[in-house]
Amino acid sequence: MPCKNPERPSLNSHLFHAETETEVRHLLNDIARAGKYIHYALQTSDTGLAGSQNTSGEEQLKLDVISNNIVEEELCESHLVYAYASEEKGAIEPLRDGAPFFVAFDPLDGSSLVDANLSIGSIFGIYRGDPMGKTPREQVAALYLVYGPRTILVYSTGKGVHAFYLNDVGEFLLLEKDLTIGDTVKTYAPGNLRAVTDTPAYRKVMESWLDEGITLRYSGGMVPDIHHILIKGGGIFTNIGGNKYPQGKLRLLYECGPFAYIVEQAGGGSSNGERSILDITITELDQRTPIIIGSKKEVNRVAKVLKP
Ligand code: F6P
Ligand code: MN
Repeated sequence: MPCKNPERPSLNSHLFHAETETEVRHLLNDIARAGKYIHYALQTSDTGLAGSQNTSGEEQLKLDVISNNIVEEELCESHLVYAYASEEKGAIEPLRDGAPFFVAFDPLDGSSLVDANLSIGSIFGIYRGDPMGKTPREQVAALYLVYGPRTILVYSTGKGVHAFYLNDVGEFLLLEKDLTIGDTVKTYAPGNLRAVTDTPAYRKVMESWLDEGITLRYSGGMVPDIHHILIKGGGIFTNIGGNKYPQGKLRLLYECGPFAYIVEQAGGGSSNGERSILDITITELDQRTPIIIGSKKEVNRVAKVLKP
């Protein structure tokens, strides 16, 4: 007897019915499992400093280290990942010779918000083979988890963008399929805003939003801030360079690339001011890029205003 199609399929069942390539489905399930362990660690672990720094010289929290180790373990157990790079480590870490995938990830983005109990997240970009010399458009899949009042997972394999919530028994169930981003912009999320003092065009962009009377929705966590745009179906997020961070604060491989893949799949746009984030060649693990992302028309308008 055929199974009834449940109203809220599990992540695995959804991936299966979406005819996701088997290896990709297994890997996404393994990453989802890492997300469950990180969700649990956030509820139960000490939020203090680890006493170490990441490659950018930022203080690591114990939770940064725990989250990194959780992901590393799940990727290792998957047997599908030949190497990975984590924002916390900043080096290519070999895992299993001959395996097909490379995973770039930020295990706990926005972790400085954790003591304030604001939402944070994990971000993953999956490549077949070495990402160096490739572009984020060549990702096989991208996925993020947002840890807020609920834990939500959003993924795309290039066939739409789909969201799942973590239920009480540890299963990701479908929350919403085929998320879309349209051109109506009701909210703005301006990151690295200290740059307005030395990037006057960024001040102009900011003033245009103030004049339009749209609503500020900025938490300081890239994951919840862009998730907000996806769930509401429109909006704009920026992180633009200034003197301190000439390319903005955010990384192409670990942060901007996966989000650009997901947002463009949902019908939104992404830009570094010149071209889609999906068309920037990856040359360094720690490469930063300015980012304008969200509703496509607004992304293009902002990119024009920011043009030197
Ligand atoms: O990864 C760093 C991060 O915490 C992102 O999550 C966030 O978008 C950004 O920094 C915030 O930067 P700023 O405080 O400069 O706006
Ligand atoms: Mn980060």
